[in-house]
Amino acid sequence: MGEGYTIAVAGTSRTFPCAADDTLLGAALRAGIGIAYECASGGCGSCRVDLCDGAVDLAYPASPGLKPRDFERGRRLACMSRPTRDCAIRFREEAAAIPVTPPRRRVARLEARRPVTRDIDEFDFAFGQEAPFLAGQFALLQLPGLPSARAYSMANVPGGRHWQFMIRRVPGGDATRILFDLRPGDLVEIDGPYSTAHFRADSPRDTVCVAGGSGLAPVLSVARAALADTGRARCRVHFFYGARTLADMVTPEALGLADERVTFHPVLSEPDGQGWPGETGYVHEALDRLLPGEWADHDFYLAGPPPMVEAVRRLLLLDRGVPADRVYYDRFF
Ligand code: FES
Repeated sequence: MGEGYTIAVAGTSRTFPCAADDTLLGAALRAGIGIAYECASGGCGSCRVDLCDGAVDLAYPASPGLKPRDFERGRRLACMSRPTRDCAIRFREEAAAIPVTPPRRRVARLEARRPVTRDIDEFDFAFGQEAPFLAGQFALLQLPGLPSARAYSMANVPGGRHWQFMIRRVPGGDATRILFDLRPGDLVEIDGPYSTAHFRADSPRDTVCVAGGSGLAPVLSVARAALADTGRARCRVHFFYGARTLADMVTPEALGLADERVTFHPVLSEPDGQGWPGETGYVHEALDRLLPGEWADHDFYLAGPPPMVEAVRRLLLLDRGVPADRVYYDRFF
């Protein structure tokens, strides 16, 4: 951690400290200030702030979350901005963004790695002490040589020292090259937890998890937490998982979801010639066909490719009338 700066919240008397190597978003959340955000990765645009005074460096100048016109108007993405002097910023605050557990930057050790599907591995990192998070949240992994951190969701049930990530091997990907070269015992700086799309343990409603591709981890953590919660012994979990081919599919047994309270719905979008007897098409279509009962009596947790999340979101909010406060997701682009 280097030199620090003071960030003033324009129009108020509030300030918060920000280390020179921290982002405006990270520093605000560490100070308990709820800047609206989703991906913390420069993609969604939710964390736009007006830079009223001061100067920042951008970790990723070409971030898709900020249009050139907004940049010219003095707007910046809080998740990509590191101050180079004291600043004043104006931004949208959300009560839900005030973190239950403020994110911290800590070093974790890779304990183990195991394959989940043909191109997704589970990475098990351990901290030196307990590292709380809420099911469904993600963390930023600072990988050597990359200009900005990469976001990955925890898949395990919170509690203890371990954060387990399910990470897709992306051919030619910079993060893939570094992560899949790690060996047990290697150290990585991890910043987290982030996300407001976390499991609501106090809800009496059944849980519906809808995931596609590498969106598996956060909803798996939610499902596992729902099943582990003794106060919800009578609640059900509906788990929809969309994969492209049979080789990409997972089983409830492999995920620790073989439980009579879980209804598992695997869906293949490209089943051709593989003898697949199950659901085919897009995962939102399967959800539309298969989820029984009154939809507003459920909480929905979504994760996956942006078109999938958007299709499910529209189905829930526009077609099925599910209240927006029962639908949880982060948009990653
Ligand atoms: Fe900053 Fe998504 S662009 S939170």
